[in-house]
Amino acid sequence: MRYRKLGRTNYEVGEVGYGAWGIGGKQWLGGADDESVSALRLAIERGLNFIDTALAYGDGHSEQLVGQVVRETRGKVYVATKVPPRNRLWPARPGIGIEEVFPYPYIVSSTEESLRNLGMESVDLQQLHVWNPEWIGRDEWRRAFEDLKQSGKARAVGVSINDHRPDTALELIRTGLIDTVQVIYNIFDPSPEAELFPLCRERNIGVLARVPLDEGALTGRIREDTTFPPGDFREWYFRGDHKRQVVQHVTALQKDLAGADLPQTALRFCLSAAEVSAVIPGMRTPRHAEANCASSDLGPLPDATLALLRRHAWQKNFYG
Ligand SMILES: NC(=O)c1ccc[n+]([C@@H]2O[C@H](COP(=O)([O-])OP(=O)(O)OC[C@H]3O[C@@H](n4cnc5c(N)ncnc54)[C@H](OP(=O)(O)O)[C@@H]3O)[C@@H](O)[C@H]2O)c1
Repeated sequence: MRYRKLGRTNYEVGEVGYGAWGIGGKQWLGGADDESVSALRLAIERGLNFIDTALAYGDGHSEQLVGQVVRETRGKVYVATKVPPRNRLWPARPGIGIEEVFPYPYIVSSTEESLRNLGMESVDLQQLHVWNPEWIGRDEWRRAFEDLKQSGKARAVGVSINDHRPDTALELIRTGLIDTVQVIYNIFDPSPEAELFPLCRERNIGVLARVPLDEGALTGRIREDTTFPPGDFREWYFRGDHKRQVVQHVTALQKDLAGADLPQTALRFCLSAAEVSAVIPGMRTPRHAEANCASSDLGPLPDATLALLRRHAWQKNFYG
């Protein structure tokens, strides 16, 4: 595992972090706690030291599993979590004020609830789970972030940017009041490269590349007849003719890759951007944890491969 600085936090984080949405057990079904815990332990053995969870992932269940594993490790493992929007609307909707979504006392009490789930006194990174640029001048998030840091409940703060809208965080970064951003960045959606990454580089802001495998599309495992357990988030994400579209795009991609491992290529694509501090794939099985951690050791992709992958950018929004 190679390590990078998480922006100005100075945390030395493994390039491959752990995306802990899937292990929450409510939005992603079909996993088993024992296996998820084994996958997380194995990843830590392989040098992973950054985990991204959220209070909303299984209503605290992901945080509880993460806390269990992190407490038993001897070395430092950095834990990031998130404050869910109080109105439970993802993404943030234009016109809905911050007083409905992130009032000051709610940001603080949500952090305290996360700390109880994690069994920790301090979280290394607290993030707002959605962001709406209309809130930029408001006091709620500014005061809450400042007080969380001062009380030691959160050592660093950031936001998770709305799906496929990287530029909605530019003004926020310019305030100098956040340490990190979490953004969709993968072979299909390289859009953060245009404006977000250069600004993050200039301001030394940590970048967490989320959904690097496009919820599984970039693993090559989605077929037209793939099914998910009823109620699984992916049943909705890959709804309608989305699976057919995915197969079409992934088949073309695999043809160009001529046998190279797709999930590892997808992770290395993210890590080829120097601005990315860590990529955070979801991986509930030890086999996937092993393969994903190993992708860091392979280093960035050659320029020729990156040029080829750029031809596979695909403007879509399956979350919409
Ligand atoms: N709004 C937000 O803030 C937000 C939204 C979405 C995600 N996130 C964060 O980003 C993380 C990553 O996104 P994600 O988990 O939604 O999706 P993802 O990382 O794009 O894809 C996860 C899927 O890929 C599979 N997979 C992983 N490694 C594989 C490998 N080597 N070979 C084959 N399949 C592999 C996983 O299978 P198994 O799980 O079965 O191993 C799972 O089905 C989340 O866990 C969460 O921390 C944040």
